[in-house]
Amino acid sequence: MGLALAVLARGLLLAVPAGGLLDTVLAGAGAAPAEEPTRAQVVRVAEAPASPATPAQNAVPATGEAAQIVDRAKDYHSWSRFPAYQKPKLSKGHGGTYVVAWYNPAAAPAVKGGNYPEDSIIVKENRRAPDGAPVSLTVMAKRSGSWYWLKATPDWKIATADGKPIAGKEVSSCVGCHGMAPGDMVFSK
Ligand code: HEC
Repeated sequence: MGLALAVLARGLLLAVPAGGLLDTVLAGAGAAPAEEPTRAQVVRVAEAPASPATPAQNAVPATGEAAQIVDRAKDYHSWSRFPAYQKPKLSKGHGGTYVVAWYNPAAAPAVKGGNYPEDSIIVKENRRAPDGAPVSLTVMAKRSGSWYWLKATPDWKIATADGKPIAGKEVSSCVGCHGMAPGDMVFSK
């Protein structure tokens, strides 16, 4: 039981690649001796939101407002990083991933506090390893006074949940959690 749990926890923490959970569990088990997870780790796995990995086959091309945002967000590597991410950080909210977030020039006045101006965009990379390639991108864009949320694959297709694109102002998972952020729904400083 202890061993099975450790292997399972490892598989979940690694997130599920296109190959599926079983492959991940087996790869995890082969790669390193199983360690006993602490209770805190097990609880964290149980509470982690849906896998940060975004299987490409479930993603759809961006359309409408999402396409406009994607178009502007694509060159995020030329933007500034929030000071907190000079080194990639193990995420507190985006289950088991390392994150780095960038903001566009329109957002700059709000990074130290206050409300984000119209056309602000924040792009966050979710990675399995601190310096690895992103497995998904999460984006917030200020549009007509409120945040538009989207989740994309690294090549900017829109991720889906239950067949629906994860994009819009009312994505309840994003809104629910980010509602707890102290200022204008943004956690990063
Ligand atoms: C369980 C809570 C939770 C959920 C759900 C969540 N986030 Fe986050 N998000 C966070 C936290 C905490 C941070 C700060 C960095 C970190 O620790 O990951 C963050 C950071 C971000 C950032 C960088 C700006 C900031 O606020 O720090 C973006 C962009 C982002 N999330 C987008 C999204 C999108 C889009 C969704 C929905 C698809 C989403 N998030 C769902 C908790 C969450």
